[in-house]
Amino acid sequence: MKGVILAGGLATRLRPLTWVTNKHLLPIYNKPMVYYPLETMKKAGIKEVLLTSSPDHAGHFANLLGAGEEFDMKLYYAVQKNPKGGIADAISLAKEFVKGEKILVILGDNIFNFNLQDAVKDFEKKEKGAMVFGVRMDTQSRQYGVIELDNKGKVISIEEKPEHPKSDIAQTGIYMYDSRVFSFVESLTPSARNELEVTDLNNFYLKDGTMTCRIIDWWIDAGTSYDELLKANNLVAQKVKNGEL
Ligand code: G1P
Repeated sequence: MKGVILAGGLATRLRPLTWVTNKHLLPIYNKPMVYYPLETMKKAGIKEVLLTSSPDHAGHFANLLGAGEEFDMKLYYAVQKNPKGGIADAISLAKEFVKGEKILVILGDNIFNFNLQDAVKDFEKKEKGAMVFGVRMDTQSRQYGVIELDNKGKVISIEEKPEHPKSDIAQTGIYMYDSRVFSFVESLTPSARNELEVTDLNNFYLKDGTMTCRIIDWWIDAGTSYDELLKANNLVAQKVKNGEL
């Protein structure tokens, strides 16, 4: 299975911090943000990772991370020309890299400490499908996709930033897909915010009957606001000092 880390976008919600640098290079306590998804990939046993970023910042990631030696992996880069293309558009850049394998996608600003190794192993055994990862939290803020499960844990619906959330399970930025993902992306149309939405992509798998979901313990989308960025810094600092990270 191959890894894809999305580190593009304009990060308008974090300006002026992100006027001249990329959000994923901002610090989370003692490391640049992008180190966290890379370490997660490493712990999950992924050996080859593609990092997508914007034309202005792709070189900065190459300066920092090189060919991935520090993480004991092979790191490749792709440039997303349209920084407002959306998550599904960025995923489509991985088509050549993936060569028919399955992929683990992580949004570069997602901070969590859930070990994905077992999920990766299980997913590798599946013939086809996708997996999303949810976290229980307040979903009223309209910042996140919302996943609805039945009482057996089967996914019933996934809605992007709904006005009336059907559950308290937020869709994190951790996704696994089979190689059909690229043809599904091709049939997507831009949403109201003019992006190719990951939730629309996930709904293809839901209709296909092959979408599954796992719940993780804690998770922060550090790119949402200054407060979430600060929260991620404080939480990681505390966990490092407690020896949990
Ligand atoms: C994206 C997804 C959303 C998900 C979130 C997690 O939102 O569209 O479903 O809950 O990432 O970080 P965005 O950050 O693009 O607004």
